[in-house]
Amino acid sequence: MTKKLKPQSIVIAGGGSTYTPEIILMLLDNTDTLPIRKLKIYDNNEERQKIVADAVEIILKEKAPNIEYLATTDPEEAFSDVDFVMAHIRVGLYEMREQDEKIPLKYGVIGQETCGPGGIAYGMRSIGGVLELVDYMEQYSPDAWMLNYSNPAAIVAEATRRLRPNAKILNICDMPIGLESRMAKILGLNSRKDMDVRYYGLNHFGWWTDVRDKEGNDLMPKLKEYISQNGYSLEALGTDPKENDPSWMYTFRKAKDVYELDPNTLPNTYLKYYFFPDEAAQHSNPNYTRANEVIDGREKRVFGECMRITDMKTAKDTNFHIGDHASYIVDLTRAIAYNTHERMLLIVPNNGSIVNFEPTAMVEIPCIVGSNGPEPLTQGEIPRFQKGLMEQQVAVEKLVVEAWIEKSYQKLWQAFAASKIVPNAAVAKEILDDMIEANKEYWPELK
Ligand code: NAD
Ligand code: G6P
Ligand code: MN
Repeated sequence: MTKKLKPQSIVIAGGGSTYTPEIILMLLDNTDTLPIRKLKIYDNNEERQKIVADAVEIILKEKAPNIEYLATTDPEEAFSDVDFVMAHIRVGLYEMREQDEKIPLKYGVIGQETCGPGGIAYGMRSIGGVLELVDYMEQYSPDAWMLNYSNPAAIVAEATRRLRPNAKILNICDMPIGLESRMAKILGLNSRKDMDVRYYGLNHFGWWTDVRDKEGNDLMPKLKEYISQNGYSLEALGTDPKENDPSWMYTFRKAKDVYELDPNTLPNTYLKYYFFPDEAAQHSNPNYTRANEVIDGREKRVFGECMRITDMKTAKDTNFHIGDHASYIVDLTRAIAYNTHERMLLIVPNNGSIVNFEPTAMVEIPCIVGSNGPEPLTQGEIPRFQKGLMEQQVAVEKLVVEAWIEKSYQKLWQAFAASKIVPNAAVAKEILDDMIEANKEYWPELK
């Protein structure tokens, strides 16, 4: 007998995000296993959100007229009577992402959304924005859960651990999911869900140690063979999705070189920025970085399609497609709402799961997720190579959060200098000083 599932009320924070239409379509496609009674979108930028909001209104009218819909910039309206907050905000918009990427490049250092100096600068902007969302949720819907994928997730997760330790917030990243989908294709499986994985690390800084099928067969040898030749690029299979931008195609191929450093494990693609920072910098055009590529690519494509839907007053022939890219958000919501005990990678306090690593670090590891939140699975002891790298990186992340809390210039300089991506303390200071200037509107004033 199937039990009747309680319909949920969801607010998406960062309603004007380029990811909002896809997430909404994906939610609508899954209402049999995750029924929805109310769907709201919230942003602090009315003009930007309206582009998405008007199209979403048409999509909902056509596909799910029974779901109550609201687009708002008013926190009380947005956060009242919700069961879940799905948060993907970008404090400072692409305009500031561009600065995060371009300022380090002036000094020959790679600028990246979540890694190195760019990630630190973005972290200093994001902390306040995400805390504000947590506080709205706790004020207006104290029983709700926040599923956060606002970046930089590592720093945001550490900040919420320090400053809102009892908040019902789960931090999650789609990179392992995307790479596991690629692994499934390499293995000829239908879905990443046909695999069970062991993985550990920090966000955008981790390794798979085991991949098995549901019968328990070890799939690592076949994956290693492929990845040692191709990285995670699917070009050799002729199946890499065409919409991949060149910079991502390069990243997937580059995983081959990252893998060589430790052939016992399979790496997250983001490690390339730590092991090959010079090459990444040389490969960048200081006048046209990933932010520009996104503005000219994804943003134009998504917003263009939203405006077309609004003009046509119908979404019947929309080219927005529902990939499985965002399906983990449905899985996570269902796990909490209906106690499904799904196994998922989440960013959680280590607390002994990685036995020989800092207990207070926010680590990315498999967890069993149910109504009372995640139960992390022990990953045992990790080797010296990974441990050493993670110690350095977690120090950076913790120093950023301490710098934000204490408004400390000294600690932020230490964070920049401790980053493996920054060559020395003098360059660290130069980048930091430029970034303080660029982030005046967003960072706390440092002493
Ligand atoms: P975007 O700039 O298109 O959208 C972000 C939206 O957030 C904007 O509409 C902006 O106005 C809004 N916003 C900013 N500050 C806000 C605040 N304080 N309150 C409410 N709204 C606010 O960005 P995007 O490229 O679509 O990405 C959105 C976020 O999702 C980014 O943080 C990105 O890094 C993150 N992301 C994370 C993952 C992951 O693996 N965790 C994957 C994809 C994207
Ligand atoms: C992956 C990461 C995200 C990151 C995104 C950047 O999905 O997991 O954390 O935000 O890539 O993609 P973009 O296309 O914006 O460069
Ligand atoms: Mn991520």
